[in-house]
Amino acid sequence: MSIPPPPESAPVRVAVIGCGARASLARHVDPVGRATALVDPDTEARARTAEFLPGEPVQYATVADLLEAPGAVTAALVLTPDDTHAEVTIPLLEAGIAVFCEKPLAITTADADRILAVATRTGTPLYVGHNMRHMSVVRLMREIIDRGEIGEVKAVWCRHFVGHGGDYYFKDWHAERARSTGLLLQKGAHDIDVIHHLAGGYSTRVTGMGGLTLYDQVTDRRDNSDRRMADWFSLENWPPLSQRELHPVIDVEDLSMVQMQLDNGVHASYQQCHYTPDYWRNYTVIGTEGRLENFGDGEGGVVRVWNRRSGYRPDGDAEYPITGDEGGHGDADARTVAEFLAMVTDGAPTLTSPLAARHAVATAVAATESLRAGSAPREVPAPDLDRRTTS
Ligand SMILES: NC(=O)c1ccc[n+]([C@@H]2O[C@H](COP(=O)([O-])OP(=O)(O)OC[C@H]3O[C@@H](n4cnc5c(N)ncnc54)[C@H](O)[C@@H]3O)[C@@H](O)[C@H]2O)c1
Repeated sequence: MSIPPPPESAPVRVAVIGCGARASLARHVDPVGRATALVDPDTEARARTAEFLPGEPVQYATVADLLEAPGAVTAALVLTPDDTHAEVTIPLLEAGIAVFCEKPLAITTADADRILAVATRTGTPLYVGHNMRHMSVVRLMREIIDRGEIGEVKAVWCRHFVGHGGDYYFKDWHAERARSTGLLLQKGAHDIDVIHHLAGGYSTRVTGMGGLTLYDQVTDRRDNSDRRMADWFSLENWPPLSQRELHPVIDVEDLSMVQMQLDNGVHASYQQCHYTPDYWRNYTVIGTEGRLENFGDGEGGVVRVWNRRSGYRPDGDAEYPITGDEGGHGDADARTVAEFLAMVTDGAPTLTSPLAARHAVATAVAATESLRAGSAPREVPAPDLDRRTTS
């Protein structure tokens, strides 16, 4: 089914599906688009989102209700929890509604493949919100690599200090395997996608290691489904063992690591800890003629390059400032939504890729399986392109 083109210069009519924390993305829809519909079973969540949007978006409890109003929208932002992405996205694609799906694309490789298969068969535009590709620090590292400053990339290492982990991931659905598979996927999909992007390849073989090493010791638990993250987030929740009101079920790891072999010979590693005092990511990329590393990952940070032999030299041979992303990934969010809308209106090319998003899911799922199977190496299944294009 093809999407009816919007009248010349009329904003794209967009449905916001899932009115939780990420409904903030809808702020970036204007002026190219206009959020004309809100979908969420939670009436209060819809009301909160309607408050900050222009106009009076029509409200629906379910995607099925939205689809009963044909032509209501031509595009949708899918901002629902990870385990719902397939069930929400597929009917929209079938109905010819262009989809922006938040990362990760799905919580299983099979579901990610199902989504790609439907997008391929229907030809409906699909975009996955891997906003980190639009973060200034990632763009800067990619530019340095593309200029050849470190030669041919051979290794990418990322240390991820998830300082807000207790508040972000252990007080709601994120903490449950059944809802997220695990945090190597839920959180790590961002960085695995960035590692693939910087390395110019996809993982084929992984080994994972990690465990639930701290938050299982916190016995104070509460079902927080009546509250939102803003109600409990506080920098005063420190040290991590003093956390209270964690999710009743916690079976995901809070410390995890994965080693990756890529299809172009690059080797990579990613480490994630959910109880560090500070919250940022530190990448180093090693090439045949040098090395880069970021210090800080937003405005005020720098990326340094070393390309002469020496002992320890903290300043490196070149230093590039990171500009933008002052308040976290707000700028990247705006760029990501703008890119989606340009794809919908003009078929513009995108820096993000649904196929890459699928590889991030498959890599993270295989790494999680490895981690939970005594670190036995796992092959990352390749996408079944034939089946995708013919079914
Ligand atoms: N790209 C990023 O930087 C980034 C950051 C945070 C979260 N995310 C992703 O964004 C998505 C949403 O996360 P969040 O933190 O906003 O979640 P949230 O729990 O705050 O909100 C989810 C909302 O979706 C609603 N919902 C659930 N099932 C639904 C359905 N079938 N149809 C319609 N609405 C439904 C819930 O009622 C809730 O209001 C997740 O996939 C998450 O991984 C991405």
